[in-house]
Amino acid sequence: MRMKKLKIGVIGLGGIANFHIEGILASESAEVWSICDCNEEALLAKGEELGVPPERRYVNHLDLLKDSELDAVTIGTPNSNHFTIAYDAIKHRKPFALEKPIALDAKEAIILRQALADDPLPHMVCFTYRYKSAVRYAKQLLEQGTLGKINHVYSQYLQSWGINEDIPLVWRFRKELSGSGALGDLGSHILDLKRFLIGETVKVIADAGTIVKERALLGSEGRGDVDVDDFCHVLARFASGASSSMSISRFAFGRGNYQQIEIYGTQGALVYNLEEEDSLHIKLGEEQQFRKVDIPDSYKANQMQSFFDLLIGKGDGMDATIEDGCINQWTLDAIVQSFTEEKWIAIEQEAAN
Ligand SMILES: NC(=O)c1ccc[n+]([C@@H]2O[C@H](COP(=O)([O-])OP(=O)(O)OC[C@H]3O[C@@H](n4cnc5c(N)ncnc54)[C@H](O)[C@@H]3O)[C@@H](O)[C@H]2O)c1
Repeated sequence: MRMKKLKIGVIGLGGIANFHIEGILASESAEVWSICDCNEEALLAKGEELGVPPERRYVNHLDLLKDSELDAVTIGTPNSNHFTIAYDAIKHRKPFALEKPIALDAKEAIILRQALADDPLPHMVCFTYRYKSAVRYAKQLLEQGTLGKINHVYSQYLQSWGINEDIPLVWRFRKELSGSGALGDLGSHILDLKRFLIGETVKVIADAGTIVKERALLGSEGRGDVDVDDFCHVLARFASGASSSMSISRFAFGRGNYQQIEIYGTQGALVYNLEEEDSLHIKLGEEQQFRKVDIPDSYKANQMQSFFDLLIGKGDGMDATIEDGCINQWTLDAIVQSFTEEKWIAIEQEAAN
């Protein structure tokens, strides 16, 4: 008997929606049922491309959420809309996959967490790199204690697109629409990976800056201020005592989507790297050199299929929840406070947990 496909509504039809839609189309368990974008041109183009009937194309997410046939939604709008749309999804009892960072600040994130605590609902935060097989294999090695006690974690997430000064003042450069800059965009992923692999961060000290300070306004004459970070460098302590660093930039010449996390323990070390593909190198005990690990296929995972599995009660427990998103947001806020006030900031565990 053929399984009934989950009817998914895609909210926000920009860059990341293509990834969400690709995942839906590749899955046997889901279909693109409806779409929503406040930009009518984007809505029309995607509707035509996907053959979504005009009556299931919406400019307002509330109209999409009212559909009783809809099973779940993906939320891939700019950060400033995450809170409202996720909150409305909870109120309309529609399970959701929400993009990162989950909100503009911890205040919003905590309200979302409370709303889900009051009315639980299947949901996922799209910390995409949790689904890399190199990350999952590294997690297993760490949980088995293969590296011994962890002393240091050095991490980077580097892109270069900000160097192009012709890129106008898109939402990613505006605090009121994004919350923070490279930090929330790229750093949120690395903070989640470090927590996924190692554990809680208890204090941070950061430096950040804006390299291109103004850009052409979108849709009107003149230029406007970039009021978010183009780069952010963070020193941090884990609850375990391990010391870590995180370098985040949109101005790293030659880097497209480069991540590296190096973890050094008392008995071994590992290096997770992502450029075109994810890879893992390890060195254990008396080994002379780092060696590339052949990762078994069983560690492969797919974010969107994981969302559909979660919806039918078959999640593997590795997906990020709103709780994870909330702690992530709390840490982002602490980092912003640190580089603004130029001092160490303790992560308030009570508020974060
Ligand atoms: N998980 C990842 O690896 C990853 C990668 C890229 C982006 N993202 C996240 O995805 C989100 C979107 O990023 P993007 O690059 O796709 O942005 P984008 O600017 O390309 O697309 C955003 C789309 O949302 C639409 N939109 C804005 N407000 C809306 C509203 N109220 N209702 C419906 N549609 C609305 C815009 O018209 C636009 O089409 C961000 O939160 C970003 O952080 C995540």
